[in-house]
Amino acid sequence: MNADDMKKLAAKAALEYVDGGIIGVGTGSTVNHFIDYLATIKSKIDGAVSSSEVSTERMKSHGIPVMDLNAAGELELYVDGADESDHNLALIKGGGGALTREKIVAGASKKFVCIADGSKLVDILGRFPLPVEVIPMARSHVARQLVKLGGTPVWREDFITDNGNVILDVHNLEIMKPIEMEQRINNIAGVVTVGIFALRPADVLILGTEEGTKTITA
Ligand code: 5RP
Repeated sequence: MNADDMKKLAAKAALEYVDGGIIGVGTGSTVNHFIDYLATIKSKIDGAVSSSEVSTERMKSHGIPVMDLNAAGELELYVDGADESDHNLALIKGGGGALTREKIVAGASKKFVCIADGSKLVDILGRFPLPVEVIPMARSHVARQLVKLGGTPVWREDFITDNGNVILDVHNLEIMKPIEMEQRINNIAGVVTVGIFALRPADVLILGTEEGTKTITA
């Protein structure tokens, strides 16, 4: 079984959490599978709030109504992938660059179900370069502050987020205290969003593995 098959397993298992209303939908290759499965039960939901233009397009192509978060109110469920998860379900996200909208929709949802292949579970966050969305004029300033925190920021060139900002991918961080690191990076002027999801971690992690799905609950 390859990684994509494992992503599919996790994505399909998340359908069991869908129980009507408006649901939040994340971004990425695992979520793309989830959207395809969601389309098979679309009559069960009123619609979806999307975390990116890419997911919006995919849902629209399936005839899933996409709603504005301001009109939707608090959501019962958010389903999204991750680049890494620790055992407390603190995450690194933003490999696809959609971290800001993902963090907003996760924060607006009662339950966050994270779907991933088994390789994403780690003991300590940080092997995956940490994405940080930054206001363009602050790029160098933020990079210098990230170096002071021990990281090696690399500008994701030729990439602009859905919000018109840039991404710094921070290498060589060992994130021993995810909440503290999230707060410290959030406090740097010019940072829009840091891809640590620890203040609002996932509630449920569904991993696709060779042996089937494995579910971890916070
Ligand atoms: C996008 C994300 C994705 O959830 C993350 O990159 C995982 O992607 P994939 O499911 O393709 O492995 O945070 O901003």
